[in-house]
Amino acid sequence: MKQVKFVQMKDGDKEDYEFLIKHEVEHTKGTADRLIKALVELDEGLSGYKITRLGHSLQSATRAWHDGADIDWIVSALLHDIGDIYAPYNHDEYAASILRPFVREQCSWVVEKHGIFQMIYYGEHVGSNPHKRDKYIENIYFKDCSDFCEFWDQKSFDPDYDTKPIGFFIPLVREVFSRKPYDSIFIRPNEREPLITNTSTG
Ligand SMILES: [Fe+2]
Ligand SMILES: [Fe+2]
Repeated sequence: MKQVKFVQMKDGDKEDYEFLIKHEVEHTKGTADRLIKALVELDEGLSGYKITRLGHSLQSATRAWHDGADIDWIVSALLHDIGDIYAPYNHDEYAASILRPFVREQCSWVVEKHGIFQMIYYGEHVGSNPHKRDKYIENIYFKDCSDFCEFWDQKSFDPDYDTKPIGFFIPLVREVFSRKPYDSIFIRPNEREPLITNTSTG
């Protein structure tokens, strides 16, 4: 069997759907590589900053790595702006949707909300409320998102920073996206891991 027999989904039988599931499982094995390719494409997007979107992503992840953050944080920092390509108006939600099945809830929440939290730095200049994030003040991840933006995101537009190349992060992306999706061992709802464990690098 190379293709399903149906032309309308409602006509598919058990054999068709078993075939498709097998196919889908094979396809998902390539997710990490497709994401890395998409990340490289970020290099062509959004100009005007002193560094490209890929450079910004790598720099955010490099800072996370230097701070001693764990793999969930590093990969989340690396991919937090991947939505810029196809979802410029809700890039944060787009990136969070990609990460959510594979990383700690803490990290996907922070990625989902980082756009709102970033407003604190420039909202006043673009006619938006810089304090929009305050509606999440009671959330257990509020401080994490605030720190993510302060120490990794808003800071990572520096062309002189010693940013690690993409090759450094590829094994980490592969590891995260080879996890069993939505596995509670990795999602760990309501659990927090520190962003910064290594204070010696500054
Ligand atoms: Fe962003
Ligand atoms: Fe960013």
